[in-house]
Amino acid sequence: MTASYEVRGDVAVITLENPPVNGLGFDTRCGIVEGLQRAVGDAAIRAIVLIGSGKGFSGGADIREFNTPKALQEPSLHTVIRDIESSPKPVTAAIHGLAMGGGLELALGCHYRVASAGAQIALPEVKLGILPGAGGTQRLPRVIGLQRALDMIVHGAPVRSEKLSDTRLFDRLIDGDLLDGAITFAREIADARPLPQVGALQMNEPESAQVIQAARDRVQAQATYYPALSRCIDAVEAAVRLPFQEGLAFEREQFLYLVQTIESKALRHAFFAERSASKIPGIGPEVALRPIRSAAVIGAGTMGAGIAMNFANAGIPVCMLETEQAALDKGVATIRRNYENTLKKGRLTQEQLDKRMALISTTLDYAALGQADIVIEAVYEEISVKEKVFKQLDQVMKPGSILASNTSTLDLDRIASFTSRPHDVIGTHFFSPANVMKLLEVVRGKATAPDVLATVMSLAKTISKTGVVSGVCDGFIGNRMIEQYVRQAFFLLEEGCLPAQLDGAIERFGFAMGPFRMSDLAGNDIGWQIRKRRRTEHPDMIYSLVGDKLCERGRFGQKTSAGWYDYRAGDRTAHASDEVNQMILEHAAALGLQRRQISDEEIVERLMYALVNEGAKILEEGIALRASDIDLVYLTGYGFPLYRGGPMFYASSVGLDTVLEAIKGYASGPNAHAWQIAPMLEQLAKEGKSFH
Ligand code: 3HC
Repeated sequence: MTASYEVRGDVAVITLENPPVNGLGFDTRCGIVEGLQRAVGDAAIRAIVLIGSGKGFSGGADIREFNTPKALQEPSLHTVIRDIESSPKPVTAAIHGLAMGGGLELALGCHYRVASAGAQIALPEVKLGILPGAGGTQRLPRVIGLQRALDMIVHGAPVRSEKLSDTRLFDRLIDGDLLDGAITFAREIADARPLPQVGALQMNEPESAQVIQAARDRVQAQATYYPALSRCIDAVEAAVRLPFQEGLAFEREQFLYLVQTIESKALRHAFFAERSASKIPGIGPEVALRPIRSAAVIGAGTMGAGIAMNFANAGIPVCMLETEQAALDKGVATIRRNYENTLKKGRLTQEQLDKRMALISTTLDYAALGQADIVIEAVYEEISVKEKVFKQLDQVMKPGSILASNTSTLDLDRIASFTSRPHDVIGTHFFSPANVMKLLEVVRGKATAPDVLATVMSLAKTISKTGVVSGVCDGFIGNRMIEQYVRQAFFLLEEGCLPAQLDGAIERFGFAMGPFRMSDLAGNDIGWQIRKRRRTEHPDMIYSLVGDKLCERGRFGQKTSAGWYDYRAGDRTAHASDEVNQMILEHAAALGLQRRQISDEEIVERLMYALVNEGAKILEEGIALRASDIDLVYLTGYGFPLYRGGPMFYASSVGLDTVLEAIKGYASGPNAHAWQIAPMLEQLAKEGKSFH
């Protein structure tokens, strides 16, 4: 049983004991009901306190039970709440740490609520693509008012308990020991009758129509992709419009609808993917982490400066090294400008800016970095340049210092071999802009020590990144897959598409940017360099020459005001380019290709399935630890639509047999050579299984 029962004189205490967050799974629900029955049946008990053990009251319903029979197995959360509400003895919820989702709904079903200051109070269900399904949309507006309840339910963000002390949510804020305070409170109200019920409170909201309309207007743009947004508002509106019991029934209907939507399944998948990524088989809590109290970055270009900002933001002193003072000055100026922009937007104070700038130092001398706990190399992507840097680092860095490379494609094991301590070498592949993008691919070389890997994964959290472990291969997880996606995009240009049509299809699918707009932003010359190298290393890999032709015209993207699209000075808007479109037509004609009309569906399938097929190979080779890691890479680093859950989840939701059939079709069409079907995909499809 994951709820315990104890008697303190005339008060019964039911304690939720389901670590880590007292999720309200079946066992815990049974424990609450049993405790309640014991307390009601014991004539010596006058009042009941419901409290959480560990870090909080409750994180809500057990999400792992969703879409399983256990979720509905009685006693359901509704039954538990109904039993509490109808208890003849007063039940007081005592809240500390957190009360979220079903946890807050459970507390709202109690007759009274007391709380410690600093508790995180939230109905975050919307972030999982659902709505509060155990009365939250009906009860919360009754105690904190329509506007505040809408804000909490539609955005899902936590509010600290003391900020709600002016509402009817809490009957008392307790200083000192929460349980003692709650028992004292419970004794004070033990004989008061009738017992208060939140559901009996009247909603008095004369401005409700305007408030609700304003909420609808705010979510309109997103609501097509995230159906929970408008249904949250519908349910809160029902609290105003309908009697309490009917409102509850309406909320239930919406919950049952949302919980089976693919969007909700995708969001829940992303929630667990994020938490699984930090679990590395064979590396447990017994592995001691190396302390990271100082950092160094080699290179003060856009990437190096962005990486340095992450350390300064986390309060870790960081020193940047360059070969020339002018480059250092430029890097520092970039950082200052970035912070000043954040300050202008009101997201940073002058004091914070000064503090962060003070944590950043510069040097031209390798010896000055020697004592740093971690050094990250962010220099030009060329193995001979990396060799020079790592040989120098090997000379100057203290024993135990972590030597990291920000390489995005090069062989980390080769880089490690330039040092006498390959076990201290690791890849930290940041994504541009490095101070903004969440993803950090943590590349584990064949010699990387477990404590180095564990330390860098923990560091990822410290600097607010999502760390995902990748093995060593060309491009690691993200770029190795994107290469296949871009190859398909180029072939589609030859076969009949133009950049705007292709980008449009991918953006309507949900990507933040299609491949051509993205490439114009990142710089078309980067891909060009990579293709040149790949053609020598892998002569069997065929690439369309259309991207090279673009670069030969000096159309490197936004930085040259010309790429796949035309750009006007000071404006990032992409305008279709007659010159480029003509170039594509001429290129196709020179190849003797008969261009054809290509549907959005084909564009999406070819690009997505190219990702999936390569992802399956990456999984099979053990480069990624799990399919959800691949999804996380794409959700946090490549603008993959969150509501589709990442490429591998998307493929599983389409059905791997359907994906395989489509790939087989493309593998017998033009550019068939680009499709070598992943054996794992074939195997799973044959067995009717998915990646997850
Ligand atoms: N159900 C099942 N497991 C949960 C959970 C939940 N509601 N909330 C957290 N967990 C698990 C996590 O998966 C993780 O498991 P792991 O150790 O095996 O990886 C563990 O608890 C710790 O979670 P975090 O790493 O996220 O811990 P933090 O301290 O950083 O954060 C938290 C705690 C703020 C509670 C965060 O976990 C969170 O946001 N949880 C989700 C809360 C939520 O959405 N609640 C609503 C659930 S839906 C609901 O209640 C429906 C109802 O309306 C009917």
